[in-house]
Amino acid sequence: MKVVMIGAGYVGLVSGACFAEFGTEVVCVDNDKDKVKNLINGIIPIYEPGLEDLVLKNVNDGKLIFQNDLQAAINDVDIIFIAVGTPSRRGDGHADLKYVYQAAKEIGENLEQYALVVNKSTVPVGTAREVKNIIRRINPDLKFDVASNPEFLREGSAIEDFTNPDRVVLGVENQRSEKILREIYKPLQKIDAPILSTNLESAELIKYASNAFLATKISFINEMSHLSEIVGADITAISEGMGLDERIGSKFLQVGPGYGGSCFPKDALALSRIAQDHGVNSKIVDAVIQVNSKQKNRMVEKISHALGGSLEDKRIAMLGLTFKPGTDDMRDAPSITIISGLIDQGAIISAHDPEGVEEAKKLLPKNIKYSDTIKQTINSADAVVLMTEWDQYLELDLKRIKEEMKGSIFVDLRNAFDPDIMEDIGFNYFSVGR
Ligand code: UGA
Repeated sequence: MKVVMIGAGYVGLVSGACFAEFGTEVVCVDNDKDKVKNLINGIIPIYEPGLEDLVLKNVNDGKLIFQNDLQAAINDVDIIFIAVGTPSRRGDGHADLKYVYQAAKEIGENLEQYALVVNKSTVPVGTAREVKNIIRRINPDLKFDVASNPEFLREGSAIEDFTNPDRVVLGVENQRSEKILREIYKPLQKIDAPILSTNLESAELIKYASNAFLATKISFINEMSHLSEIVGADITAISEGMGLDERIGSKFLQVGPGYGGSCFPKDALALSRIAQDHGVNSKIVDAVIQVNSKQKNRMVEKISHALGGSLEDKRIAMLGLTFKPGTDDMRDAPSITIISGLIDQGAIISAHDPEGVEEAKKLLPKNIKYSDTIKQTINSADAVVLMTEWDQYLELDLKRIKEEMKGSIFVDLRNAFDPDIMEDIGFNYFSVGR
């Protein structure tokens, strides 16, 4: 099998490297010349555990090639994946499809023989059909099919998710397309990964519905955490007690400062817009978005309350900035809203993150002091805030932290530590929902 992957971003790069590892010949095409040059030289543009090794190995084996020129790559292949970005359109929350449609246009202009064109990008319902229309308008005689094959990769464990998925979803219009896609995913048959075939629209909606449902679980437990604090319940016990019911399941019931990242915020909003466009009221999804925004603001209030109600000139050390551990991604990280809220109220912020500082500098207010060591970050702090649960923070010598910081307030936005132990050490400890 031969594949072209349009887009060497997060999804394209991970999927391309993993398909190459499956034994497929993959050409990853991106119009960003510097990115392609770097990739050819083994420089990976994102931090994702295991990705660098996988890319280098498959490049060395000649199974993974990077190039700028789609025209040169596109013919004589079985599948063309579109894996370009679909950011939120500025101002209205609709997914911006300009890169997807540009890819479709270039396929229409350059493809000369049959190939299956597959959307891997997260796209609104109806996009696969629109891609088909675009290609057909440009090249009416071309034989091709379109399909939808959404990805369910989590940043930080994307390679494991790709090679050991809960499911693969194939949105197809005919048996020929299904056969081609099942062939490329053949190595997954050995591990009995469920492969679900459905129509184009269902595949597109499964992706949004899955992300929105996971976001719903998080917003639900975050809302419960507020109530828990008021009535004197413990949200950890509530998550556990709910999660033991197999119908509910324990995953994605971990409270925190709100969900972030490049997917949940953007996709929940886009799903709400898709529903609106079709005259459907998406009350649950809308509430999930509102609760998430409220949770981030509630964290600002929590930190302010921990510091006695005023943040003026208070020194706060942030441990972690990325939206979750295992990534350098700062897109829609809760730290952005929370730190801006603290600074607005007069706080002075120092920050540490194992991977995210470069990205953070682009998105956070300018007057933050970044340090390479945790010691430097906390030494003059009145309060330490655990924002992201990186392993190295979970393994901290907390007694030393207490000795080295100026104050004694510790605000744990991930409920990573035991309140009794924290109080025994001498911290004035605050967490979420307990
Ligand atoms: C998410 C989905 O989990 C993937 O299945 C999907 O493929 C991906 O979006 C996508 O659409 O590309 P990801 O954004 O990498 O993956 O991150 P998650 O691990 O799902 O976490 C998202 C956010 O929810 C993080 O901010 C995390 O801290 C938060 N979260 C997660 C909680 O607050 N509580 C939880 O119990 C779980």
